Amino acid sequence: MSALLYVDGLTLSYGGVRVLHGVSFEIPQGGGIFGLIGPNGAGKTSLLNCISRVQRPTSGQIEYGGRDLMRVPIHKLAPLGITRSFQNLELFDDATVLENVVVGGSPFYRKGFVAELFNLPEARRSHEAAIREALQLIQKLDLGSVARTRVSELPFGTRKAVEFARALAARPRLLLLDEPAAGLNGVESRELGEKLQALVRDRETAILMVEHDMALVMNFCDRVLALVDGEIACEGTPEQVRRNKIVVNAYLGVEGEDA
Ligand SMILES: Nc1ncnc2c1ncn2[C@@H]1O[C@H](COP(=O)(O)OP(=O)(O)OP(=O)(O)O)[C@@H](O)[C@H]1O
Ligand SMILES: [Mg+2]
Repeated sequence: MSALLYVDGLTLSYGGVRVLHGVSFEIPQGGGIFGLIGPNGAGKTSLLNCISRVQRPTSGQIEYGGRDLMRVPIHKLAPLGITRSFQNLELFDDATVLENVVVGGSPFYRKGFVAELFNLPEARRSHEAAIREALQLIQKLDLGSVARTRVSELPFGTRKAVEFARALAARPRLLLLDEPAAGLNGVESRELGEKLQALVRDRETAILMVEHDMALVMNFCDRVLALVDGEIACEGTPEQVRRNKIVVNAYLGVEGEDA
């Protein structure tokens, strides 16, 4: 069976400046938490951007379930099971938490332009189901008390949680998270790790998570990719990556052993 995500020889340059170079890795079917670590500017967000079709790589190949992802338009990603969160948040700030999460679930509930325009019964029922499911998710992620609050009124950490909820509403098979623990304290970060593990367990979701919070990475990831200067310096278990000399020198900054 083909891998869930297959990335081969990915290269990305901005005006001649190389950001990613020959990045290759696989995420197998069956789910798990895959950490993506590396120094600032290493290319982590750029890699997520290529997978989520925000940026077009200069060369290389990305396949999802055996399908060439480069040929998939960006609006088809969520229906295919790929959703993401953003390092700097991309929410509808003037809408409520509930409205944002309902939009996330739209791949399942859209009934077509005509049905929605005329508010036909099937569109209405579908919209009600979308709201019910969004509210359940909001409760589950401890956002119940702010469900009807506008996103712009919420602190950064809560908005991160809303973005997470919105990404989950599409029931992803591949969830791309860019620094989900930024702004969280140690306890909140651990709770996030437990939620991610539950997601893998209950839905076999594969999570590719960019993160600088090493406690979250080391305690919760199944495998870790370390990106240094746009290249994969090491891939392995958290323990293997923690001991890798290149990763230690470039990023972790404590004594390591040879790769
Ligand atoms: N739109 C762009 N145009 C030109 N250069 C860019 C652009 N986006 C990113 N870069 C450059 O690409 C490199 C990688 O950036 P990227 O945001 O992918 O790093 P990162 O690993 O996510 O870093 P951080 O940990 O700080 O978020 C950086 O040198 C950055 O300045
Ligand atoms: Mg980044």
